[in-house]
Amino acid sequence: MDFYLFENLYLGTASKKYVKHAVNELKNIDKNLKVVDYFPDGIFSFETSATRQDFLDRLKSAPPVFLRHINPIDGMVYFDDALNSAKTVVECLPIIVSHPLGGRNVAVQARRAPGDYEESLYTYKSLIDPFLTKELGAKPVVKKPDMIISLYIADSTKIKPESGIPGNGNTAKMQEQAWNGVALVGVSTPSHNICEWSGGAVRFAKGDDQASRAEFKLLEAMTLFGIECREGQKALDLGSSPGGWTKVLAEKGFYVTSVDKAPLNPDVMKMKGVNFVKKDAQFFRCDKDVYDLLTCDINRDPIQTARTLVNMAPCLKKGSPLILTIKFPGDDPIKTIEKTRSTIESSYEVKIIRQLFHNRDEVTLYAVRK
Ligand SMILES: C[S@@+](CC[C@H](N)C(=O)[O-])C[C@H]1O[C@@H](n2cnc3c(N)ncnc32)[C@H](O)[C@@H]1O
Repeated sequence: MDFYLFENLYLGTASKKYVKHAVNELKNIDKNLKVVDYFPDGIFSFETSATRQDFLDRLKSAPPVFLRHINPIDGMVYFDDALNSAKTVVECLPIIVSHPLGGRNVAVQARRAPGDYEESLYTYKSLIDPFLTKELGAKPVVKKPDMIISLYIADSTKIKPESGIPGNGNTAKMQEQAWNGVALVGVSTPSHNICEWSGGAVRFAKGDDQASRAEFKLLEAMTLFGIECREGQKALDLGSSPGGWTKVLAEKGFYVTSVDKAPLNPDVMKMKGVNFVKKDAQFFRCDKDVYDLLTCDINRDPIQTARTLVNMAPCLKKGSPLILTIKFPGDDPIKTIEKTRSTIESSYEVKIIRQLFHNRDEVTLYAVRK
């Protein structure tokens, strides 16, 4: 076993297609930031020139759109025995974990690069949890952690410790060929990770009667933005066909006015509280201050859609949320996002624009009516 400690190293995660955009976002807040390694599935490690606190403060004041998740890499543990990799990680934890974890709810989030492994990911959690309880007085949890121990396991020995400081006082040159794999370990709060789910992957169980894959997009947005339904609330869903979002909203108890030029799934149409209006959204009219939530997944030019939403703003009660997917019709997503944002801002206060786990060639905007 050999391990190295780091101060300014991180693991970033974005959608595979938008890694370049995520890296640019990071370079905008630290121009000397350096990508160290690119791993599969939109994962990359990077080193900042700013100190940890300074970097995290800058990230907070310029929230990224495409970077879905980050976690610090406090230590890299190289292991030679593939059957004991989890045990090796636990042996190094007392030195890697510098945060006081006593009395805190701590989640272990383990991911790994594609490859052949002797141990399951669960093995890491099953060995680290007792260590947390017995040695550190922490409480292992899965949801709503105060702190997260992130692990990224790779069977590649090509990942070099670069700027790391040897953790066991062994300053001899590393013997790469001796190692079976490496674990990148970091400890952080959920807010520093951008998203509290492992790698930003917000997963839901797939129901048999799923009307469309789009359901997950709305479920993820509502979960992350904390949108719940109170009795008797009304939602307006624009661009609703075939009906995934309308179904999610009706299941959550909203009375839903569902608007699309195309027909709604007949099963969704029959659901309690659903009222379908077959119409172009730009011609839909309603009274003032009727709706508690406005959702829009229209797949046409986003700027035109934004104008429709500005015209429709008076239908939404003041302070109520808007969830909008911004699709990328051309090859300049940044321009599309900024134009849409500036149009929307005349009637709404934009809170977050983020590429969610379930977004493909689009991002999700969350705003509230001014
Ligand atoms: C991605 S789909 C929506 C999927 C839907 N959210 C769901 O969960 O099933 C986009 C929809 O926008 C609709 N659409 C496009 N332009 C529209 C317009 N001007 N007015 C209303 N609907 C429109 C399309 O007919 C299409 O059904």
